[in-house]
Amino acid sequence: MKNVLVTGGAGFIGSHTVVELLNSGFGVVVVDNLVNSCEESLTRVEKITGKAVKFYKNDVRDRAALDKIFEENKIDWVIHFAGLKAVGESCEMPIEYYDNNLNGTLVLLQAMRAHGCKKIVFSSSATVYGDPEVLPLTEQCKTGGTTNPYGTSKYFQEIMLGDVYKSDNEWTVVLLRYFNPVGAHESGLIGEDPKGIPNNLTPYIAKVAIGELKEVGVFGNDYPTHDGTGVRDYIHVVDLAKGHVASIDKIDANGVFVYNLGTGIGYSVLDVIHAFEKACGHKLPYVIKPRRAGDIAACYADAGKAKAELGWKAELGIDEMCASLWNWQQKNPNGYNK
Ligand code: UD1
Repeated sequence: MKNVLVTGGAGFIGSHTVVELLNSGFGVVVVDNLVNSCEESLTRVEKITGKAVKFYKNDVRDRAALDKIFEENKIDWVIHFAGLKAVGESCEMPIEYYDNNLNGTLVLLQAMRAHGCKKIVFSSSATVYGDPEVLPLTEQCKTGGTTNPYGTSKYFQEIMLGDVYKSDNEWTVVLLRYFNPVGAHESGLIGEDPKGIPNNLTPYIAKVAIGELKEVGVFGNDYPTHDGTGVRDYIHVVDLAKGHVASIDKIDANGVFVYNLGTGIGYSVLDVIHAFEKACGHKLPYVIKPRRAGDIAACYADAGKAKAELGWKAELGIDEMCASLWNWQQKNPNGYNK
């Protein structure tokens, strides 16, 4: 059995990926400092899969803790999710963001090298493309020009990982650029559990649908898009999770491999609100607000490379994304805090 160390495995994308890894027969070890997640998600992962997850509550910047994990477990691959991820917060706390995200990756890479594990899948983001010059975005599009420390940290981490491969061709580095991950596991047992008022669109809509928030603020309706509101490539988190398993299954060579993980379809803010209305069965109040600073008009993927090389493509559409999120929201109105 191959063993995968999943950093940040208790979080939103991490926990869904752990489920898919276990269902595909991998052994999983999770390291997570729980600053933005909780252990309950892993208990639920075990409930879904009927399999055990070995958990270490540690920070990836803690080299001694990582050494212990590599000594106690035979690790074949690392999937690295651990990091801070809120765009707005990153502008207020750049030092914390660069410390967590860049130092976390550096210490992890040092520990991996010391223990002879040189296969890593990195949780990157479409944010590395900055404001797209052409759509859909292919992996060849220019990167950089990021507009916030979160995005810049993802860009820097991609460069760091590329340099590591250049210096030692025994590494396998997979950079997965996520578009907008949404939805939840169909069981309703695991999902996104944002702290406080959500910044991202779909968790915000879910809280309006359940009556916890009054109305959705639509940030701008004067973008050059089909209805004037921002267009994004929303991808079901379960599809995204499967993209990680496909990477580990298929990639057998050394090198740097880059894939967009998206559906290739762009939906506007109003499209998403209307899709969610279908899922929850009632109208959702919304108001048009000014544009949000740093937002771009449209962003969606050309996901052809992942299909051609990994045999992976997103299977679930916007209706399944909204229905699964609504199911999670209803069953867990307070997230993991029951
Ligand atoms: C952002 C980040 C991305 C990150 C993702 C998930 C950037 C440019 N984008 O994506 O890197 O991976 O979050 O954390 O750094 N909207 C509203 N009302 C709301 C919230 C959002 O109208 O209350 C609109 C936004 O203007 C945008 C769309 O909904 O057009 C999606 O926004 P959001 O869910 O925050 O994701 P992004 O900004 O695309």
